[in-house]
Amino acid sequence: MKNRYSLAKNVFVDSIDIDDYIELESALSAYKQLENSIEKPLKMILLFGRPGTGKSILLNRIYKNLKYQKEIHYFETPTVNEKEFFLKLFKVLTKKELPKHTEVNFSALIEFSKKLYGKREIIILLDEAQMYSSEIMEKIRLLSDTRSIKFVVSLHKTEDEDLIAKEHFKSRIWEIIELKNITQEEQASYIHKKLLKQNFFEVANSIKGKNIKLIHEFTKGNYRECNKLLFTIFEIYEYYEKNDLSKINYNKMSRKIIEMAGLKLGYIYV
Ligand SMILES: Nc1ncnc2c1ncn2[C@@H]1O[C@H](COP(=O)(O)OP(=O)(O)OP(=O)(O)O)[C@@H](O)[C@H]1O
Ligand SMILES: [Mg+2]
Repeated sequence: MKNRYSLAKNVFVDSIDIDDYIELESALSAYKQLENSIEKPLKMILLFGRPGTGKSILLNRIYKNLKYQKEIHYFETPTVNEKEFFLKLFKVLTKKELPKHTEVNFSALIEFSKKLYGKREIIILLDEAQMYSSEIMEKIRLLSDTRSIKFVVSLHKTEDEDLIAKEHFKSRIWEIIELKNITQEEQASYIHKKLLKQNFFEVANSIKGKNIKLIHEFTKGNYRECNKLLFTIFEIYEYYEKNDLSKINYNKMSRKIIEMAGLKLGYIYV
């Protein structure tokens, strides 16, 4: 089959489209946890994890599944500008289109949302919340105190942000859901399922236990790193498929090629 690897490569393009979602035990358990938390009378829920652990795709999934049953909104990219952010929120609360530069008075917003208490329950999924200023976060907290709006705050945690994540929210967020990198077993099933979903049976079969072990060593079970590595592996295969077929064994993935991809991405050095 021609172009097999060019197509297989595209299976691993980074995307938060839920059609690409793979049901894994850990992902399902995080989903259920979030679903339960949303049902509870909480004001804020913190979803956190390192970059590439599946926060955005989880928020998208919960949004798509609940959007016909609940008043739920997904705020994808943070508007760092405070005015714009509260205007966006005001539109959600009032269900009205407002002129672009309308100034929203914050106390009016609070009053408005107090009046909604008991009548409507609005859920806002805030992705990439580490980008909001602490002033905005403080106001978000005040809004959540009205209990008409529940915020799911998704925060991406890096080494030196661990403390901030915990300290800043400790007393305020009432439930914390943490997403982690996946185990080697789950990564095996992630890679295989992703390929099988697009009918790449042979390619999936060619990735053996030992290959997975190396892939897991490189990527530590991080979804995004895994996607990048697989993409790069198939990119190299694509090259050989065009230029030097003798380098390809369709039955077994080559350790050398995984290493070359690892080298390219900086997981190993020479
Ligand atoms: N259960 C899953 N099924 C399929 N793909 C997944 C799954 N979980 C994560 N991914 C994939 O992994 C990549 C990273 O996921 P995502 O963008 O959701 O991570 P994130 O935690 O939001 O990262 P960041 O903190 O950088 O925003 C995406 O390409 C996504 O499609
Ligand atoms: Mg994200």
